[in-house]
Amino acid sequence: MDRYSFGLVLVLALASITVPSAHGWSKEGHTMTCQIAQALLDSEAAEAVRNLLPDYVNGDLSALCVWPDQVRHWYRYRWTSPLHFIDTPDQACSFDYSRDCHDQHGLENMCVAGAIQNFTSQLSHYREGTSDRRYNMTEALLFLSHFMGDIHQPLHVGFTTDEGGNTINLRWFRHKSNLHHVWDREIILTALKDYYEKNTDLLLQDIKGNYTDGVWSDDVSSWEHCDDLASCINKFAVESINIACKWGYKDVEPGVTLADDYFDSRMPILMKRIAQGGVRLAMILNRVLGESDEGLATPT
Ligand SMILES: *[C@@H]1O[C@H](CO)[C@@H](O)[C@H](O)[C@H]1NC(C)=O
Ligand SMILES: *[C@@H]1O[C@H](CO)[C@@H](O)[C@H](O)[C@H]1NC(C)=O
Ligand SMILES: *[C@@H]1O[C@H](CO)[C@@H](O)[C@H](O)[C@H]1NC(C)=O
Ligand SMILES: [Zn+2]
Repeated sequence: MDRYSFGLVLVLALASITVPSAHGWSKEGHTMTCQIAQALLDSEAAEAVRNLLPDYVNGDLSALCVWPDQVRHWYRYRWTSPLHFIDTPDQACSFDYSRDCHDQHGLENMCVAGAIQNFTSQLSHYREGTSDRRYNMTEALLFLSHFMGDIHQPLHVGFTTDEGGNTINLRWFRHKSNLHHVWDREIILTALKDYYEKNTDLLLQDIKGNYTDGVWSDDVSSWEHCDDLASCINKFAVESINIACKWGYKDVEPGVTLADDYFDSRMPILMKRIAQGGVRLAMILNRVLGESDEGLATPT
């Protein structure tokens, strides 16, 4: 049983108890990443996105950004399961595409970095009207949007043996959790509770304020800078494993209780990752669907 079917069995078995999901940014993380991105689209990219979305979401990309997590256990989408993360060698604190981007059977490109290239490349044919009929452009958009969130979650580029922190059980303040889930969701929920009246819109406004006219505004142009997609995606993954080592795993042993010190020092880092994921998703969508004819070198 792989870790995700194990997770599913747990969910089914303990349906009444909240079980940490092993599936990437929580709903909140993915939603905010996509809301940030959608607000930064140029008009042509925004229109393309609206056209690709099903009517029932009224043009709101973020409403479907968790869709890949919902379908990954369905038989038809089982192949997407390894695309949410990257397992890197224990303690190596590095990412090497040819070494690390594969599934557990060694199938190449089956990791979140390969998936982002794949779905960007599929979408890049949409504007020219040369889409390959085998590919569903709506799904390509949703997968790309979701995986750009996942690759920015530091523990999604984690160590192999502990499954990106999933097997490191610990306490988050008073309740049981695990290290992966702390970065997926616990930090966001604690921030919402302590600082934002449990209102994700207030948190989102604060994040937006910080990159438009605040602590990160001078950094945004370097976040978006990208000449060659493959190397940019590798950079995102390298950033994540570096943060995972420097802040995620640091001083964490199974059974510890993480509380204020960990929360206070990690929250700003995690919020910045959400902002970066959103800004960079917009950069990719603008380049492949938008007015810019800058394009983006993608493998075909
Ligand atoms: C790319 O997407 C196609 C389907 O759209 C899929 O068959 C293939 O496995 C994907 N590869 C990666 C690396 O995501
Ligand atoms: C594309 O995928 C979406 C989501 O799975 C689905 O609702 C839609 O019918 C698909 N479109 C085509 C043309 O297959
Ligand atoms: C935004 O920046 C302010 C000032 O540095 C900081 O206190 C706040 O926590 C930041 N908010 C987020 C969501 O990063
Ligand atoms: Zn995911």
